[in-house]
Amino acid sequence: MGHLTGEVSYSKGLEGVVAAITSIAVIDGEAGKLIYRGIPIELLAEHSNFEETAYLLWFGDLPKKDELENLKRDLIEHREVPEELVDCIKKAPRDTHPMEILRTCVSMGGCFDTDKNDNSRGANIRKSIRLTAQMPTMVAYYSRARRGLDIVPPNSNLSHAQNLYYMLTGEIPNEEISRLVDVILILHMEHGMNASTFAAMVIASTLSDIYSAICGAISALRGPLHGGANERVLEMLQEIGSVENVEPYIMQAIKEHRRVMGFGHRVYKAYDPRARILKEYAERLSKEKKNTKWTQIAEKIEEVMIREKGKKGIFPNVDFYSGIIYNLLGFPKEVFTPIFAIARVVGWTAHVLEYLQSNRIFRPRALYNGPLDVEYIPIEKR
Ligand code: CMC
Repeated sequence: MGHLTGEVSYSKGLEGVVAAITSIAVIDGEAGKLIYRGIPIELLAEHSNFEETAYLLWFGDLPKKDELENLKRDLIEHREVPEELVDCIKKAPRDTHPMEILRTCVSMGGCFDTDKNDNSRGANIRKSIRLTAQMPTMVAYYSRARRGLDIVPPNSNLSHAQNLYYMLTGEIPNEEISRLVDVILILHMEHGMNASTFAAMVIASTLSDIYSAICGAISALRGPLHGGANERVLEMLQEIGSVENVEPYIMQAIKEHRRVMGFGHRVYKAYDPRARILKEYAERLSKEKKNTKWTQIAEKIEEVMIREKGKKGIFPNVDFYSGIIYNLLGFPKEVFTPIFAIARVVGWTAHVLEYLQSNRIFRPRALYNGPLDVEYIPIEKR
């Protein structure tokens, strides 16, 4: 039994395991730094926008003017979804979570893609752009249908970020909100070898199609330990209800070894740089909207958690302040995780495109600790 002898190494949850080589992004977990293609996330959040950062992640460099214009045009052109998907969205049971709708629509969208039988790099780039263009429409259409509102078709005069806000709320965002949505999307676009990206890469490594890979990634992102945490954070803030309740709530959670949503990270052992930026925006927006209740509760949670858990490297992550911003923007909480997916699809597809250039199927092993040489007992004697 060769698998029981010799040198084997095992890392639960693949902690510390290097599964690929990438030039897309790097995280310095000790210093709290995130870098896309060599550019610190703070610079992109300050100066860039969704389309430009998507180009950077997919193609490796910031686009020249005509390259950016072409990508913008392509993204606008493919925003509409096939009529059959709109039908599916309208007929879905209203208690379906938008992440389930997104997974279903991406899967169904793959059936309508004109490049569906082409797994070449060119076709996969086209499919990545189409998926990125259509996912906001899928989410916004269902979110409005779920709320009993008329769907708002995409507006080709608006940027990707503006159009997302417009399709969700029915209102054209002002400059400040447009900027904020761009920043949110940039911060969520890419994050190295996280669970959903790895899920996409495992699927793509079998030479399955990119729609299947993204369905897998959406499914992985949905869980509360990953992208599903942002929705849970708002639920926690609502449950806590006031600044005075924070201390007993968090101390009880710690006593019962419960996870406090929006805190902790496998890689960051310092403050997540995305959370730092989102915190500033959350504070600014809450003052403007004259609704500081959630930020006050959040800041108190942060204070207690850092006091109790900071020594262990547990700090707020990207999901802690994003939900407050979405809530202040008037987005229903069930679209928080889909917005994460709408941004992260760029990182997912960038990694799939990169990995397929020198593909090898992912095929790890498991350490067997079950019995051997067990006798077969006929059913009547068991
Ligand atoms: N609240 C309380 N304790 C925590 C938390 C938390 N949020 N996160 C980790 N810990 C503790 C954990 O109990 C363990 O303590 P001990 O060593 O005493 O048993 C220690 O920290 C290490 O935890 P772990 O489970 O081994 O860490 P991990 O790297 O496997 O998990 C994580 C990372 C993000 C799943 C985890 O921190 C967590 O569950 N956080 C809450 C959910 C969350 O906010 N997820 C979003 C992550 S960021 C965005 C994204 O990737 O989607």
